[in-house]
Amino acid sequence: MVKIGILGVGTVGQSVANILESNADILEARAGKKIVAKSGVVKNLSKKRDVNITLSDNPLDVIDDPEIDIVVELMGGIEEPYELVKRALKNGKAVVTANKALLAYHRYELQELAGDLPLMYEASTAGGIPIIGALRNGLAANHIESIQGIMNGTCNYMLTKMIKEGAKYDEILKEAQELGYAEADPTFDVGGFDAAHKLLILSSIAYGIDAKPEDIVIEGIENITQTDVEFAKEFGYEIKLLGIAKRADNGVELRVHATMIPQESMIAKVDGVMNAVTVVGDRVGETMFYGPGAGGDATASAVIADIVDIVRGNQGPMLGYKKGLESGLKLLPKEEI
Ligand code: HSE
Repeated sequence: MVKIGILGVGTVGQSVANILESNADILEARAGKKIVAKSGVVKNLSKKRDVNITLSDNPLDVIDDPEIDIVVELMGGIEEPYELVKRALKNGKAVVTANKALLAYHRYELQELAGDLPLMYEASTAGGIPIIGALRNGLAANHIESIQGIMNGTCNYMLTKMIKEGAKYDEILKEAQELGYAEADPTFDVGGFDAAHKLLILSSIAYGIDAKPEDIVIEGIENITQTDVEFAKEFGYEIKLLGIAKRADNGVELRVHATMIPQESMIAKVDGVMNAVTVVGDRVGETMFYGPGAGGDATASAVIADIVDIVRGNQGPMLGYKKGLESGLKLLPKEEI
């Protein structure tokens, strides 16, 4: 039996515990072992949670528990989960995290610390879409020419409602928060930072880029006005916040910004909380991945995919090219883009 401990039992954490319980039979069949959520950590123990696991407000109750095999980190933030993930790895536990901000800053050092222990993060990028697995496995034969797409469900939800229904920015942001799509601090969503974190993770796997958010061009949707929305509609465009990674001769260009897209293009038809990522490989050509970019069950689906992979004995995702194999491509300085 494999036992799971969850750091952060909020919208996604509750879904993880519940799916592990309700789908236990298929998970056991697919992983080859019984998987059980044992315990979880929350900040506020008096808040009611809909889970059948033991809750504590001390992360060490999970991380230092010798019975826990896999620690699932869903706390958000950077420094606290960074220390806890390091401690979990030092304790010999496999780690699954959905924390893109953590990975945007510490992915290479955590991977190095993990060594042969799995450190998996399918849920960190594009919610329920298995884009990490696609880049790591399905597209492994290819040099990646570009990755671009809608990587933030909150912004896409807001832009869709603003354009299609004339919704007001503040009201629709509040709605996205109530639906559990937005980050604890929604500036990460509307400022483009969350999409940038995800773009950095994908670029690490595709190119071995070791950059931080500060190194890349990031613009959000805060400055999009009603006039922009009306203009776009009138001329047959949708406005989408895109994360873009493009390989050029001299390096890789990374940027996040809102873009006007003709209504007939596929990416323009991706509405609401859905995400879509187009990856062009030098051999496969263009591929496109579509699915829910946020939300409890969708994100939990990706978290549990990692758990099943670990139980099957698969190693965690390799970030880019390991030193000595092939040097990673250089990031083009943002001033030159
Ligand atoms: N706030 C994020 C989004 C959650 O809206 O896409 C999923 O990463």
